[in-house]
Amino acid sequence: MHALPPHFTAVPLDKSYRLLNHGPTVIVSAQHAGERNAMSAAWACALDFAPPKVTVVLDKATRTRALVEGSGFFALQLPTVPMAALTKAIGTASAATMPDKLERHGVQLFTDPAWPAAPLVSGCAAWLVCQLIPEPHNQQAYDLFIGEVVAAWADDRVFRDGHWQFDTAPAELRTLHYVAGGQFYAIGESVVV
Ligand SMILES: Cc1cc2nc3c(=O)[nH]c(=O)nc-3n(C[C@H](O)[C@H](O)[C@H](O)COP(=O)(O)O)c2cc1C
Repeated sequence: MHALPPHFTAVPLDKSYRLLNHGPTVIVSAQHAGERNAMSAAWACALDFAPPKVTVVLDKATRTRALVEGSGFFALQLPTVPMAALTKAIGTASAATMPDKLERHGVQLFTDPAWPAAPLVSGCAAWLVCQLIPEPHNQQAYDLFIGEVVAAWADDRVFRDGHWQFDTAPAELRTLHYVAGGQFYAIGESVVV
């Protein structure tokens, strides 16, 4: 486990939906019974304001899903442009067949002392710890998982005072947006109306 990253700053829960509003690709992480894992997910979304909730689709073939179901917790975090290859790699390899996939692909984990049940991935722009709201029908029929956001943080160089600062922050803190076939877009310029 690694130390808390620099610039790791709490985000008020009533602003946490803004971390996902721009549609970033996320990394889903979880741990259970001594096993930690993380996978990429394009299908993650804000669901509600108060208490804040999120959805994420976790295919039955993923090892991460089993850890979410076992522990009742998961984290969503937003990888940055320098993490594109890592994001593709941990979204291609499965811990079911490659148990050391995180080490192989250079994923560094840390935890916030208040939320030791949620492994977090270093290098991301923002992190949300979510407590699973069990909905067995949705999970089985649609692979759809709902979580209540119980803690959130962002790198304060790129998200401050409830707003993303992509226009002025270092370019390497831009978030990734997945298309297909290993192609991502980095978040672009803001358009304010
Ligand atoms: C960019 C990207 C986005 C992905 N989005 C999702 C997703 O939303 N839901 C999902 O179940 N799998 C998604 N995947 C596939 C999983 O990340 C992949 O099955 C992964 O190997 C599962 O790892 P695990 O078995 O170690 O948990 C995505 C893969 C990539 C590369």
